[in-house]
Amino acid sequence: MSTHPRLVVHTIPQERWPTRDEAARALWFQPIALGPRVHARNRTWVPAMVPWRATDEGEVTQDNLQWYGRFAQGKPGVLVVEATGIRDVPSGPLLRIGHDRFVPGLRRLVEEVRSRSEGKTRLFIQLIDFLSIRRRPDAEKFFDRFLAPSGHHREHLSLLDGDAAWLERPDDDVRVRLKQLDDAGLERVLTPRELESLRFGARERVTDMELPHIRALPAVLPQLFEDAARRARAAGFDGVELHFAHAYTMASFLSRLNTRDDGYGGSLEERARLPLEVFHAVHAAVGDQMAVGCRMLSHEAIEGGSTEEDARFFALHFARAGMDFISLSKGGKFEDARQPKVGESAYPYTGRSGHECMPTVRSDERGPLGRNLHLAHEVRAALRGAGLQMPVVGAGGVVGFQMAEEALQRGDCDVVAAARQSLADPDWFLKVEHGRGAEVRRCKLTNYCEALDQKHKKVTCQLWDHVAVPDEGEVARDGRRRLVAPQWKA
Ligand SMILES: Cc1cc2nc3c(=O)[nH]c(=O)nc-3n(C[C@H](O)[C@H](O)[C@H](O)COP(=O)(O)O)c2cc1C
Ligand code: SF4
Repeated sequence: MSTHPRLVVHTIPQERWPTRDEAARALWFQPIALGPRVHARNRTWVPAMVPWRATDEGEVTQDNLQWYGRFAQGKPGVLVVEATGIRDVPSGPLLRIGHDRFVPGLRRLVEEVRSRSEGKTRLFIQLIDFLSIRRRPDAEKFFDRFLAPSGHHREHLSLLDGDAAWLERPDDDVRVRLKQLDDAGLERVLTPRELESLRFGARERVTDMELPHIRALPAVLPQLFEDAARRARAAGFDGVELHFAHAYTMASFLSRLNTRDDGYGGSLEERARLPLEVFHAVHAAVGDQMAVGCRMLSHEAIEGGSTEEDARFFALHFARAGMDFISLSKGGKFEDARQPKVGESAYPYTGRSGHECMPTVRSDERGPLGRNLHLAHEVRAALRGAGLQMPVVGAGGVVGFQMAEEALQRGDCDVVAAARQSLADPDWFLKVEHGRGAEVRRCKLTNYCEALDQKHKKVTCQLWDHVAVPDEGEVARDGRRRLVAPQWKA
């Protein structure tokens, strides 16, 4: 079987937009309970998207307020704030919630969204933990600074060169010889992990049990998530979404690739153990006032990774534990990421699993539209079959009303999320609701936005840049991109 399906460029079909009355009757615009205390006015949802607009210290900026305020103007049922770091460690211009000093800024963000949505949008925040990943090193630097010459290298050099003297040679000689080797030679002498660190940049895994801080993750993460959730409550958020998806720590615990031997890896039950402990800690701390759910993968889309079978198991356990919702995504892993350039970091949305996460029009025959909803259907069917009513949020290539409505009617999910379409046109839910769907600026699914994310640049949409409006004040530092979507009068 070919691992490279033929790619074709798909077109985004014309949409038949509903009238105002049709929209009012549509399932998508009916209210939904997300747990006992939080009700969304409808089933539209803007999932988390990092905009690269925080300060380097992780604080909320004016740009953040504009970004989230602009989404709020479209009055989605739920808006989820970007993956926000639960530790008090530097992570570039991404939001953080790892200390009480972040609360006042986050409170301003909550107030902005409340006011610009006229109280209609429920605001959640996605809480993330991630492990360290280094940029791809220059080879010279890698051998001089990062690699510790070992018996393994000496043994394999002696075999490669047919010279037993290598077994006794000093470190500096080993480094010099390693630098001379071509790819085939390096593949014989370095360990697979060292090769990966050289070619992609060193990346920690939850299975690195020899590292004390990795071994200790189950001991520290429940408290870190709990503290972050308390701060989210103090800032006034309506809910927290625990980030159990994509390439990050908690998803790695859930993954089939998690072979930890400390009771937190291996079997499905053991892989679900830490996510459940995190959920219980957060739920006990804030669950009487906020919605507490997670984002998780319906399929990892990598070799040896978890599939929908695993997702069904986790969803059942999370629902039985009392989770208020699950939001499903797919793929987005480091394991199949493209090799970065020297000095850049690997980006988990560049390989096949990345395409499954944010599918573009350049796709296999199934195309990008609603690509992952059938997986949500399977997960939801398992829940309902077990008598569990936890709402399921579906996403992936939703760029029109009919598709969203049909997904709900079919029972694929209870809420339909749209990330890029909402970026292209933050007012699109409102336009559809008002029977003015013909005015929707439709996402092209070509991932200009995602390329900016990959470069750690302020995310914008290519379509905003081509719309002339008088209020254009905010432009990116390169002077070419506007930072906020053009205005629309409801
Ligand atoms: C610029 C950008 C940033 C994103 N950041 C996040 C994030 O912080 N957390 C997350 O769970 N997903 C993130 N995603 C993935 C989206 O939430 C969504 O799952 C994905 O884009 C597929 O949905 P769509 O087809 O509606 O765009 C991001 C997507 C984009 C385009
Ligand atoms: S940049 Fe392209 S893919 Fe991203 S939201 Fe805009 S139109 Fe859609």
